[in-house]
Amino acid sequence: MSIEQLEEIALAMVAEGKGIIAIDESNSTIKKRFDAVGIECTEETRRAYRELLLTTPNLSDHISGAILFDETIRQSTKSGVPFTKVMLDNGILPGIKVDKGPQPLAGYPGEVVTEGLDGLRDRLNEYARLGAKFAKWRAVIAIGDDMPSSTCIDANCHALARYAALCQEAGIVPMVEPEVLMDGSHDIDTCFDVTEATLRALFATLYEHNVWLEGTILKASMVLPGKDCADKASVEDVAMATVRCLRATVPATLPGIVFLSGGQSDLDATQHLNEMNQMGPHPWPLSFSYGRAMQSAALKLWSQDIVGNVAAAQKIVAMRARENGMAALGRWSP
Ligand code: 13P
Repeated sequence: MSIEQLEEIALAMVAEGKGIIAIDESNSTIKKRFDAVGIECTEETRRAYRELLLTTPNLSDHISGAILFDETIRQSTKSGVPFTKVMLDNGILPGIKVDKGPQPLAGYPGEVVTEGLDGLRDRLNEYARLGAKFAKWRAVIAIGDDMPSSTCIDANCHALARYAALCQEAGIVPMVEPEVLMDGSHDIDTCFDVTEATLRALFATLYEHNVWLEGTILKASMVLPGKDCADKASVEDVAMATVRCLRATVPATLPGIVFLSGGQSDLDATQHLNEMNQMGPHPWPLSFSYGRAMQSAALKLWSQDIVGNVAAAQKIVAMRARENGMAALGRWSP
């Protein structure tokens, strides 16, 4: 695949007023989400739930792509149509989570490094054959006493850069996700400093590994105070700090930035994105790649009747897509 084709995919991922739905929960993570609302977690319930999400009527009005898990990219609708075909026929780009999750970083208690590079070239080639157009790798950076260490940031950025280069070799757009966690009692300034250091290291490492930025998407965390911080930040504070941090660290050649929701409420995730876009124009489109903030309300309703509530749950998915799509334009209103 040519560089121009990668750029075309990256630009389509952040098309005006559109964002991404992240439905790439591993089997253990989706089990936690199902357990919380009392749904049994089996291959069939996971399949049925992902079918509900991916067949939401008019999903592509505000959704450009969906990130899938390994099991999901191989699944089909109840009537036997592969999910990737349903998506491509409806103008939704198939994405795939390719990391194998965080593992403890030896020598650095409390810190993690994301694994999954071994055999990644072959896995990416298979995913490309299955229809994947982009891939995601999530690095996790925790804030705490003397954390993160520069070793943790460097190890994670190195893995992200090697993954991104392999993606581009396979004709897949890498979505690089360094998530700075909201867990803890740190203030918003600490989150700013950690996010800034992480993004500086990330883009330096991507450069060293010959990753082509025009064919790359950044999935970023917003600059927020920790969940247990006594000093709450206003919507304006969060938007201002996040935009300032991104402007200081992210090259303008990048086609777009999408945010994770990271445990924010649905309303916060939408409001923060909207506020940032109202502060534009920015060098790149700012959109969403939300998991929980796209799905939680719909999952809750579906759990009350997994046969009878499909259409009603899909209406909620479509509503959250519209709200976040409007926020990506800075035109959302309550
Ligand atoms: P949340 O929006 O629920 O944080 O999930 C997005 C995601 O893909 C995290 O890797």
